[in-house]
Formats: sequence, C-alpha cells, structure tokens
Amino acid sequence: MIQIENLKEWIHYILETYHNPLREDLVKIQLLLNKIVSVHGEHHPEFAQINTVFWKFKNDMIKHLHKEENVLFPMLQEIQNCIDNNKKLWWFHCGSIQNPISQMEHEHDIFDTYFEEMSLLSNKYEIPSDACNAYTTTYKMLEKLEKDTREHATFENDVLFKVALEKEKNLNNEK
Ligand SMILES: [Fe+2]
Ligand SMILES: [Fe+2]
Repeated sequence: MIQIENLKEWIHYILETYHNPLREDLVKIQLLLNKIVSVHGEHHPEFAQINTVFWKFKNDMIKHLHKEENVLFPMLQEIQNCIDNNKKLWWFHCGSIQNPISQMEHEHDIFDTYFEEMSLLSNKYEIPSDACNAYTTTYKMLEKLEKDTREHATFENDVLFKVALEKEKNLNNEK
C-alpha cells in the first residue's frame, strides 16, 4: 500500500491509476464487443447479451466517474485546502460528505452486479481453443476490467472515503 496522507495526492493517484486507463479500456472493449457481435453473433447469442450488459455498465461508469470528479473529489480537495490553510469548511452546518460517499458506495455495488451477469454469460470468461483473436482479447479485457473495477472500488471505499470522512470529522471537531 502506498503511503499518502494528503487527499489531493490520493485523488491524483486514483485519476492516474484508475479513472484515465478505465476510460480508454471502455472505448476499446466496446469496439471489440461490437466486432464480435457482428462477426460471430449468429453462433454466439451470448455476445449480444454481454454487449447489452456492458453498454449499461459503461454508461453508468461514465456517469459515476463524472460525479466523482466533479462533485465528490472537489469536496475532498476543499477539505484538504481547509486543513492546509487552517480554514473552516463552508458546508460545516449543512451536512457531510457522507451523503455523496454513500451514493458512490451504492454505485460500486451496482457495478458488482453487472460483472456477475457478464461472468455468468461468458462462463467466467472461458475462451475455447478455437476462439478468434477478437473473441480472446475481448474476454481477457473484460476479465481484467472486472479485476480493475473491484480494486478501484475497494480502494475508494476502504481508503479514500475513510480517510476523507476522518479528516472531515477532525476538521469539524476543531471548530
Ligand atoms: Fe473512482
Ligand atoms: Fe467510484
């Protein structure tokens, strides 16, 4: 585990390690899925079903990243600003970051259900010996996407959100 104490550094780490590569993977996987559905869809009806689930996952994930980057992360950066400059949080009297964090945690759980569906439809991303390159690459990328997404969500739930809530609480207790 990397050692970072500053929320801005944690956010930078998450953007570089998870958000930016994820956006690229979503585009690549969508292109591959479109290809295998159009070429092999007739003999593999599961490809179209996986494509439907992936499409929903992709749209939800893009919205999720947008909410984190434009709503939650700026709030966490403001907490760090207040700590660094010995200032009071402007939303001190109107709530907590707990609400947006709970919403993000709920969305992380929904992503798990999409992967359960895709894993079931693909028989745990099993690749037959006669599979073509596009088929093989798609399943390998989906399997990696599942692993990366779980790691990304776990890191946010167990590290970023916990550290941020603790810092917010300490900041409010000081006032
Ligand atoms: Fe994220
Ligand atoms: Fe997230």
